[in-house]
Amino acid sequence: MRAPPAPLATLAAEIERMPTVSWRGEIRSAAGMTLEVDGLQRVLSVGDKCHAETVRGGRVLCETIGFRNGRSLLMAFDNIEGVAEGCAATTNDTAFTLRPSIGWLGRVIDALGQPIDGHGPLRNGEHARSLRQPPPAACARRRVGEKLDTGIRVIDSFVPLCRGQRLGVFAGSGVGKSTLLSMFARHAEADAIVIGLVGERGREVREFIQDDLGAEGLARSVVIVATSDEPPLMRRQAALLCLTVAEELRDQGLHVLCLMDSVTRFAMAQREIGLAAGEPPTSKSYPPSVFAELPRLLERAGPGPDDGGSGGDITAIFTVLVDGDDHDEPIADAVRGILDGHLVLDRRIAEQGRYPAVNLLRSVSRTLPGCHSPDENRVVGRARALAATYDNMREMIRLGAYKRGTDPDTDAAMDLHPRLDAFLRQGKDDRTATPDTFAQLAALLPTTGAPT
Ligand SMILES: Nc1ncnc2c1ncn2[C@@H]1O[C@H](COP(=O)(O)OP(=O)(O)OP(=O)(O)O)[C@@H](O)[C@H]1O
Ligand SMILES: [Mg+2]
Repeated sequence: MRAPPAPLATLAAEIERMPTVSWRGEIRSAAGMTLEVDGLQRVLSVGDKCHAETVRGGRVLCETIGFRNGRSLLMAFDNIEGVAEGCAATTNDTAFTLRPSIGWLGRVIDALGQPIDGHGPLRNGEHARSLRQPPPAACARRRVGEKLDTGIRVIDSFVPLCRGQRLGVFAGSGVGKSTLLSMFARHAEADAIVIGLVGERGREVREFIQDDLGAEGLARSVVIVATSDEPPLMRRQAALLCLTVAEELRDQGLHVLCLMDSVTRFAMAQREIGLAAGEPPTSKSYPPSVFAELPRLLERAGPGPDDGGSGGDITAIFTVLVDGDDHDEPIADAVRGILDGHLVLDRRIAEQGRYPAVNLLRSVSRTLPGCHSPDENRVVGRARALAATYDNMREMIRLGAYKRGTDPDTDAAMDLHPRLDAFLRQGKDDRTATPDTFAQLAALLPTTGAPT
């Protein structure tokens, strides 16, 4: 028999993959977005998918989140209008899998892997990937690789990013997290970019894609979106899908830059799910599952497996919204402990109009000092020391209590301050290559004063 033409062959493969057995239970109660189902206890385990049928013949996708009183506890991905007591809950394929591929580049998709950009169906990959992949085993992972050129002066000098590193961007609301992410998306070296917009405002999604990312940025990106008005399962799944797509592209040998805005919204989604499943609230009403899920998600980014395979890596930047600028709140604390560096954006600096509003003294990259050359470390160390001196003396200088000539280091710090400020200020369309960044920074430093 002749082989069917390509689209038909794809369709035939899809049909081949379709499950043949189906199970059916009955919905017994509903509260908020959770449903109790009888009859599927032996089929559904936590994390499995299921459909709730409505009285009008519709189907609502659900996930199993636990068990209560001998019944399965489901949570819906959509609102459960039309679901009534006695309606059926059916399942035939319990695993959440999708088939991401390089063909997804340039596309905007939702948490269920459906295109939402109006550009037709997605070109799916060959292999189904579970949305809950474990990270590569710690000992079987490559080490963090060479330094990346991100094009952002403050990053490339003071908080450098290496291939396979995971960096957190911590800031209060409106301090410039999303704008900084868009600078990474447009300027940083990477083969592909996967962007997860998790729980952000709907209005900002279009602005981000059209104005910040632009056609050129979008062409090398996959954007996964679940806005703040979407149910918690959609928001959580957008984050899981973001890592799943990044893993697929990594396994194709690409260097992937994964940008997620924000991990806090992922944690909040998990909080809603955990509380609905009956978990006890702990710190700031976050249930324990939040602190178990965070490392499981964030550890999936990082260097690829060291098995001589594809050679791809996932470098990742996760934003963390710090409530009321409290950098010790539980999510910020947990995330900071997992990642390999943190960038603190400071409202006080943003108010002075200096963007990106990075607080040099509180930001740390754990790949330092190894990733810079000795000369680069000397330049950065000197600039940082002078910035710290200025910070210590700031009030004295402002009040006029410091007299120039008293301390050469403070004089040098005062000279450097306005010039360093101008160096750190960078418009979102402006890109500087790393060698130029260092040449500019070295030229700013005073030649006299304390030895370098
Ligand atoms: N590099 C920049 N250059 C000029 N202005 C900037 C820059 N970065 C941020 N801003 C200003 O800060 C505002 C807030 O930025 P952004 O939306 O990125 O903050 P955010 O931290 O993501 O906010 P939210 O917490 O509300 O999501 C922008 O509307 C813009 O006016
Ligand atoms: Mg934002």
